[in-house]
Amino acid sequence: MPSLSLLLLFSLIPLFYLSSAYTTTLSLSPAAFAPPLSNPWQRLNHFATASTTRAHLLKHPKTNISDTKVPLFPRGYGGYSISLSLGTPPQTLSFVMDTGSSLVWFPCTQRYTCSSCNFVSVNPSNISTFIPRSSSSSRIVGCKNPKCRWVFPGVQCKDCGGNSTTCTEFCPPYIIQYGSGSTTGLLLSETLIFPEKSVNNFVVGCSIFSSRQPSGIAGFGRGPESLPAQMGLKRFSYCLVSHRFDDTPVSSDLILVSGGGAGKGSATNYTPFRKNPTSSNPAYQDYYYVTLRKITVGGVNVRAPYKFLVADSDGNGGTIVDSGTTFTFMENPVFELVAQQFEKQVGKNYSRATEVENQSGLRPCFNISGENSLTLPQLSFHFKGGAEMVLPLGDYFSFLDDSVICMTIVTNSAAEGGVGPGPAIILGNYQQQNFYLEYDLENERLGFQKQLCK
Ligand SMILES: *[C@@H]1O[C@H](CO)[C@@H](O)[C@H](O)[C@H]1NC(C)=O
Ligand SMILES: *[C@@H]1O[C@H](CO)[C@@H](O)[C@H](O)[C@H]1NC(C)=O
Ligand SMILES: *[C@@H]1O[C@H](CO)[C@@H](O)[C@H](O)[C@H]1NC(C)=O
Ligand SMILES: *[C@@H]1O[C@H](CO)[C@@H](O)[C@H](O)[C@H]1NC(C)=O
Ligand SMILES: *[C@@H]1O[C@H](CO)[C@@H](O)[C@H](O)[C@H]1NC(C)=O
Ligand SMILES: *[C@@H]1O[C@H](CO)[C@@H](O)[C@H](O)[C@H]1NC(C)=O
Repeated sequence: MPSLSLLLLFSLIPLFYLSSAYTTTLSLSPAAFAPPLSNPWQRLNHFATASTTRAHLLKHPKTNISDTKVPLFPRGYGGYSISLSLGTPPQTLSFVMDTGSSLVWFPCTQRYTCSSCNFVSVNPSNISTFIPRSSSSSRIVGCKNPKCRWVFPGVQCKDCGGNSTTCTEFCPPYIIQYGSGSTTGLLLSETLIFPEKSVNNFVVGCSIFSSRQPSGIAGFGRGPESLPAQMGLKRFSYCLVSHRFDDTPVSSDLILVSGGGAGKGSATNYTPFRKNPTSSNPAYQDYYYVTLRKITVGGVNVRAPYKFLVADSDGNGGTIVDSGTTFTFMENPVFELVAQQFEKQVGKNYSRATEVENQSGLRPCFNISGENSLTLPQLSFHFKGGAEMVLPLGDYFSFLDDSVICMTIVTNSAAEGGVGPGPAIILGNYQQQNFYLEYDLENERLGFQKQLCK
């Protein structure tokens, strides 16, 4: 990247931690990055496929690109976006907020190229990019910078000899892979600017090539390079407005709380985060694991086996919360228990709509035409500590159409069966709509509360 200054920053300056409590509120908007689709079932199908693809990748992250810690996220799903300002003077860009990965990166330089980036709401030639040359605070992260190890834990700096002060080698380019695409670039040190505070020496990926990316990503995961970790946040919280508002200018707040005297959060239910599995796969360190004790449908415990609900130390099974997945994923044996319970209870009153199941990729779907009042069983997730998440009906059935509803939970093929590597249950953002969710990092717990976000 010849346009960048070769000045290196050796991170002798400690991380900028904020000393007094402060709160930053950002606007969080739903954004559906779907290709042009002709009917609502195809749209559901698109999000169903994107959700299973993402689940597959969260479960099987590729860690083979040297020893890179590789977060993975397929695009083309219904996600939520925030705007962040970086640089001197500030440049403002849009990012998908993602709790399933940790690096923050943006499309970068005038040469940025994005292939297969035709989304309904995004024109590839129109993706805004960060221009490091226009920012006096842009520095390429050097190979000997300890922050390089956040992304490349075992990096060898060949050209440096033993002397870090004279080293001119860059931290290696990162490659973030996801499904059929990727993003690649160099780590920059930049200033992240909020109205209340600036965060100096913030590490951000300057991507020069991507495919299937509607925008940059703001990683809110548990890795050291994530936005909450670099800012030293005590907690962050959000309330996701309904996907009904996809592509309309409706938003809610993402609240970042930092510094001392930050006080307690305000959710009514809390469940502790689990320690991440010490698995060989470093990507699992980015995820927010919780302990799901049982799943009930209409008050009936579906008896999902413990080995699926809770991860073992190798990272097989378990439940994570992920803002970047659209529809909740359940490994096939758990999914079947839930689907069968709905079929049993709802099937008494409504007939199955199998042709819609074929088109939407979701099941079960029921024909509710001619009904003016609808009674459906309640879906609840029961977490450790007694916290029960009772989902609003619109979080687990699609209401795109007056006559047919489909359960908005996806699975993998039965052939994959058994407890594979990686999380068995991924609570996606569709199931988080109209909940206040609080990631209490200081007390290592997830708080939630049903709330109308809009
Ligand atoms: C990782 O790379 C090694 C050596 O290049 C190869 O033998 C191994 O099969 C790869 N593992 C995966 C999971 O791709
Ligand atoms: C590109 O962005 C500009 C300004 O934001 C807007 O006026 C224009 O309509 C966009 N073009 C397309 C093709 O989306
Ligand atoms: C590294 O290089 C600097 C500048 O040339 C020199 O002052 C310092 O002694 C060297 N340190 C080591 C450990 O060689
Ligand atoms: C749905 O798809 C399955 C398998 O592709 C097929 O056997 C079945 O006939 C289809 N059902 C309808 C109603 O289209
Ligand atoms: C739903 O049922 C109604 C009445 O039985 C029928 O006319 C309609 O075609 C069905 N719709 C679908 C999508 O199956
Ligand atoms: C089925 O319909 C009956 C009568 O309207 C109602 O009492 C019951 O709750 C419904 N069951 C389900 C599972 O929706």
